[in-house]
Amino acid sequence: MSHKKLTIPVIIIAAAVGGAFFMLRKPVSAPPTNNEQRAITTQQQSSDGFDKNKYSTDEPGSVWQIVNKKRALPANYVPEDLIVPDVRLRLVASEQQMKFRQIAEADLVAMFNAAKEAGVTLVFGSGYRSYELQKQFYDSYVARDGQAAADRYSARPGTSEHQTGLSFDVTSISGKCHLEICFEDLPEGQWIKAHAHKYGFIIRYPDGKESITGYQYEPWHLRYIGKELANEYHKTNTKTLEEFFGL
Ligand code: DAL
Ligand code: ZN
Repeated sequence: MSHKKLTIPVIIIAAAVGGAFFMLRKPVSAPPTNNEQRAITTQQQSSDGFDKNKYSTDEPGSVWQIVNKKRALPANYVPEDLIVPDVRLRLVASEQQMKFRQIAEADLVAMFNAAKEAGVTLVFGSGYRSYELQKQFYDSYVARDGQAAADRYSARPGTSEHQTGLSFDVTSISGKCHLEICFEDLPEGQWIKAHAHKYGFIIRYPDGKESITGYQYEPWHLRYIGKELANEYHKTNTKTLEEFFGL
């Protein structure tokens, strides 16, 4: 057979194989957009009917916004509905830290009242903190303990949940165990652990989850996520928002 006669069938076979491969291979598509990914995640994770997609976890101001070391707030973000909540305050009402978002106030007051009825007096220790105030706190901790140590318990400015106006540190009247792990053993800490979810709050930095949250155990730091999500979170024995939303 001449060289020319051999070449033509080889080209035909190669074209056929190439065409079949092209038709059988998986279509190349663009990676899913955030919304598409969220829809996929929702389909996979909402077998009990809970809609994990109901509110944004990205948007500043959303009650489900997740703020952590990788998910910062804009430095100039200030919630629009800050008020001084009608609960027992640790500091004078004019202090910035004594503010909280109005959307969470009714549940906050209900929680403080329920604790009181159970013989436990909760105190609102530190709520909203602006970027600038958090910077003052963080810088002072770095100066005192060094950056590596400070990063385990204090958020860098722009990454603190306190800037959302939806987190606060709870404390006791005596001030005993203020911002210390032993707070969990006080009646106040015990009550919070057992009941906070009923009012839409979670302990955001639980014990044993530093590798996920980035922070050591803080039995006093509460985050408002609303009753619907807090109940689901409790029911499913979830420990971190990052795990709940698969982030
Ligand atoms: N202590 C928490 C992590 C904060 O500084 O926001
Ligand atoms: Zn806190």
